[in-house]
Amino acid sequence: MDGQRANPPGAGRRPLKLKRQLMSSTARLDESWSLGSLRVPNRVILAPLAGIGNWFVRLQAKRFGAGMAVSEMVSSHAVHYRNEKTCNEMLRIDPRERAGGPVAIQLFGEDPHIMRSAAAHVATAGVDAIDINMGCPVPKVRNTGAGAALLDHPDLAVQVARAAVEGAREGSERAARGIGAGVTGVGGGGAGVIGVGGVGVGGIPITCKLRSGLRPGEDSGFELAHRLVAEAGVAAIGFHPRSAAVHHKGVPDYQLATRLVESLPAPVILTGGMDDARGAREAFAATGAAAVMLARGALGNPWLFSELLDGREARPSRQDVLDELSWTIERAVEHLGEQRATRYLRKFYPWYVPRLQLDGTIARELQESLQSVPTLAHVRELLEPVRLSTSERTRFSGAKPAHSSSGEPARPSSALAR
Ligand SMILES: Cc1cc2nc3c(=O)[nH]c(=O)nc-3n(C[C@H](O)[C@H](O)[C@H](O)COP(=O)(O)O)c2cc1C
Repeated sequence: MDGQRANPPGAGRRPLKLKRQLMSSTARLDESWSLGSLRVPNRVILAPLAGIGNWFVRLQAKRFGAGMAVSEMVSSHAVHYRNEKTCNEMLRIDPRERAGGPVAIQLFGEDPHIMRSAAAHVATAGVDAIDINMGCPVPKVRNTGAGAALLDHPDLAVQVARAAVEGAREGSERAARGIGAGVTGVGGGGAGVIGVGGVGVGGIPITCKLRSGLRPGEDSGFELAHRLVAEAGVAAIGFHPRSAAVHHKGVPDYQLATRLVESLPAPVILTGGMDDARGAREAFAATGAAAVMLARGALGNPWLFSELLDGREARPSRQDVLDELSWTIERAVEHLGEQRATRYLRKFYPWYVPRLQLDGTIARELQESLQSVPTLAHVRELLEPVRLSTSERTRFSGAKPAHSSSGEPARPSSALAR
């Protein structure tokens, strides 16, 4: 029956409190830590981000120091049935990602049999860890019984996680025996087939990412976290201490996260509300979490990783931002081709343009233009005057980035280039 409580909130708190205090007083974000059989080089992780966390977004986070990065959520059903786009694009891992630390693929699903198969497939392909989404509040996911819906069905959630653990073990064993070639699409599409990175026969670690509960005030996620570790053999819990009902709004309940850290005999990865370096450091110190997982704060802001890990203090210059945006555009073309990249990249511009330190009106107009231009050639032309103005150190005032939505190449704004 659902609802069997393995450990009440805060159970085992006293003996573990000292451990946490010792840990939190000594642990630093740039220190390595153990995730099951994996050694993660530091404690700052890129969170799973649906529709965003592909190989190049993860690679970007790694270039700036992230110790681990988790993919966007991927349907276990789509993996099980070898959906081409899922296998070729969503499971694509660039070998360079591995240099900076482990890569995890996040799966979602509600069917243990399907989850086992999907985990085996992903593990066979040589991913370093698998995360199971038990926190997604989006109706499209929840209505299938997956994501946050599993919080209301803890027995099923435990079965799904256990199936993933078993599937991952099977996949790791197959990979260790060299039966990984021919796995549909993973690492394909030009990124190169990934190798099996340090995967032992014991299987790669499975983590679960949970909300505190479905509705405000509930702590079903806290209870489920204990069961997932005790009964399913999950290696760590990603904890987002906001209820699913509030989606991403409101203040995360770090006190509940602290209680989870104190009572759970496994690492807790904290996510939620860490928009800047100071917030992340404070949340890490206050909760004693093993690691922090950055989401919205890292969108278009890979510098946040270097702030936390290398002590970077300087705000990225306009040139830095333009370089990073150009890098992103080129990688998107590599991933999707010019035409699809044009549309896909529209969601990225609003993260970068505000960091260009432009006059408000100019920034707004540039933003609008970037959303409507029909090709990436137009995008590059729109950005060129911004780049020129950077190198010439000129002043921005009253400039309108010229563009034409009629298909004519956009002309660099003379005002911007002035
Ligand atoms: C655009 C967007 C997409 C997200 N996609 C996923 C996802 O695929 N899987 C998941 O577990 N969480 C997902 N999340 C939740 C984040 O991983 C993170 O836990 C949450 O945003 C809280 O962190 P923040 O307050 O720093 O943004 C998403 C959040 C956002 C904003």
